[in-house]
Parts: sequence; structure tokens; C-alpha cells
Amino acid sequence: MQVPLLDLKAQYSTIKSEVETAIAEVMESQHFILGPKVEQCERAIAKYSGCEFAVGVTSGSDALLACLMVENIGPGDEVITTPYTFFATVGAISRLGATAVFVDIDPVTYNLDVSQIAPKITPKTRAIIPVHLYGQMAEMDPIMALAQKQELIVIEDAAQAIGSEYKARRAGSIGHYGCFSFFPSKNLGAAGDGGMIVSNDGQRAEKLKVLRAHGSKPKYHHKVVGGNFRLDALQAAIVSAKLPHLDKWTAGRQRNASLYDRLFAEAGIAETCSAKAASVILPKVVTNRHIFNQYVIRVSRRDQLQAYLQKRGIGTEVYYPVPMHIQECFAYLGCKNGAFPESERAAKETLALPIYPELVESQLQYVVDCIRDFVLESEPDGDPSKQAVGSRL
Ligand SMILES: Cc1ncc(COP(=O)(O)O)c(C=O)c1O
Repeated sequence: MQVPLLDLKAQYSTIKSEVETAIAEVMESQHFILGPKVEQCERAIAKYSGCEFAVGVTSGSDALLACLMVENIGPGDEVITTPYTFFATVGAISRLGATAVFVDIDPVTYNLDVSQIAPKITPKTRAIIPVHLYGQMAEMDPIMALAQKQELIVIEDAAQAIGSEYKARRAGSIGHYGCFSFFPSKNLGAAGDGGMIVSNDGQRAEKLKVLRAHGSKPKYHHKVVGGNFRLDALQAAIVSAKLPHLDKWTAGRQRNASLYDRLFAEAGIAETCSAKAASVILPKVVTNRHIFNQYVIRVSRRDQLQAYLQKRGIGTEVYYPVPMHIQECFAYLGCKNGAFPESERAAKETLALPIYPELVESQLQYVVDCIRDFVLESEPDGDPSKQAVGSRL
């Protein structure tokens, strides 16, 4: 049996005619950059996210960059974020000459450990970028309370979290800005790069619109230096065609997550099963709507498990093997190995399993069976590296 990490063809076959119609409309209009299709997509994503405004941009990476640029964040400024994220979060801070200040993650949710933020705030701190990793939102209430008290900007990196909720509020709607990615493998993916920023602040949204077109307003007059961050109409039309299906796809991912939970428990290898020492720690849902961009387990001997599964036709991925504070290009920040132990541990132990909505139960059963075989073959034999990882959490 083959179980790929993601099968975009399976999804495309169910929406082919809608996507083709959307593409044909753009081709007929010959309007490729911004324009009515982008505006329509912006309205739809704003509504979906519980926000008043949305600004289509070239990617999730540029969404983050543009928000920081609107806030004039640059050299001498500090931005607090997590080291356990995709590169773009920290890359945006660094590209503007600002300093990323890291806060370690909560080992259960993999999101910022909010209890560690306050001590990192200095007079230079300008913003916080919480990342809603794997599709589950960070603890936004304490983050917003701190930000309000210290007059900081909050930019939600919601690239993996469109439609997720924290206390019934959608990702992107709580901070000053929310940034989405339409990278093809995201829950709502385009046919290329694309992104969007949502906000409830009209002035900020307006500034973003000017900035995404080289800061031009009126045309060919520039009060600020922006960039070419314009979303193109083909991507917007495809995203709009897919959006009505998103809740159904999210429900499919949530169903698969519950199924995994049950199958791991039945196999006797879930961390909660008392019998086995060598166990698998399952993702924990702590907010009210986790959209499972990824279903990430934690195991000891992760790399061996990944190779074992690959040999059996099962695709997995490590998000992310090297935390940002120990990336070569961020060595200038002076963070050492060991500085953020939970991020470093997660980077060694986490593994994303196939979770896409078109998977069927027999495929999930196969994944769990293979993991059980691996766990049983490596039952503890006195080697502490083979012991359960669960006992620490
Ligand atoms: C957490 C996070 N931030 C930012 C991005 C950047 O988005 P994009 O790939 O659209 O530039 C991604 C996408 O991979 C992401 O996962």
C-alpha cells in the first residue's frame, strides 16, 4: 500500500471543473494582476476569517514582510517570535534589519510558551509574531494582553492555520494583522505562490495596499518604498473556487485526526496506554478548532521511524529539523545550542503523518500498523534512547 504525505491530485479531481472555469474566466478577462478577482477573493477571505479587511499578496512570506514594513520595523527594533517555525517567520524580521528575539515553545502545542514572553520584552521590542503551528492557534489572550500593556504590534503567522479558532475567534482576527499562505500544500492552496493579510484596522489595510504596489499612491508617486507584493488574478480565482470546499476538507482532516487517535490507542502504543514503554505521543487539541494542517506525533528514534515508514510506502515529513536560533544564517544573533531546549527536542522527535482529507481508513490503519510494528521491534531493552518520550511531558 502507498500512503503519500499529501495527494493534491486526489483533491483536484473533485473540483477540476470549478477550478478550470475560474481559470478560463481570468484568461477571458486578460486581467492578471490585482483587479476584480483579487478583490472578490479578499472579500471572501476577510469574511471567512471574521475580519473587515484583506489584502492579497504574493506569498505568506511577503505577507509577514509587508506587515513589518508598514510598522516601519527595522534596525534597532526587536521582534519576539518562536524558533520552532518555518524560515519565513524569522527571515522577514531579519531581512528588514530588525532583531529576532526567541521564546521557547510549549512542548504540548509546539506554539510559543506565553509564560516566557514578558521577560524578553525590552524598550526595543516592537512586535510579537505568534505562529499558529500545524493548524492550532497560539494562546492569543495572554499575548494580546501583554501587547496592549507594552504597546506592541501582534502579527499572527497564520500560514498554516486558515479557519482555525481560539475561543471561537478565527486565526488572523485577533492580532493587528493575520498572515495566510496559499502555498499549494496548505489547506487552502493556490496553483503557485500566493498569500493574504487580514486585519480589522482599515488604515493598516490601506497602507498594505499601497505598499504591495511599490508604495505607489497616486500612481508613479511614492511616499514610501514598498515592493511588488501583488497577488495575481489566476491565484485569487483558484483560491476563491476552492474556498467553499475548505470546511468540508477541514472536517475530513479532523475526522482523520480522531481516527488516528483511536487507532493508536487500539494499537496500544499511544502515550496514554499504560502497557507500553515505547510510546507515541499524539497531538493534543487545546483550542476549539484545530484545522490539522499537519498531524504531528512525537517519538524517540524519529529518523529511524521515518526511514522504516518510507520503505513501506508511507510519506512523512519533519517540520522542522533545525530550529531557527541554530540556523547558520542567524548565528549573528548569538544563540547557542541548548538555548531553547523544547524547540530543539521537538526538532529531534516530531514527525508529520499523512492527514489529507481524501485518505481512507484502511490507509490510516496501515500507517498505525507500521508504526506499531516499529515500536514493538524496538521495545526497550535497557537502552535509554529507546525509552518513551512521553514521561517528560
Ligand atoms: C509558519 C509559516 N510561515 C510562513 C510561511 C510562508 O508562506 P509562503 O510559503 O506562502 O511564503 C509558511 C509556509 O510555508 C509557514 O508554514
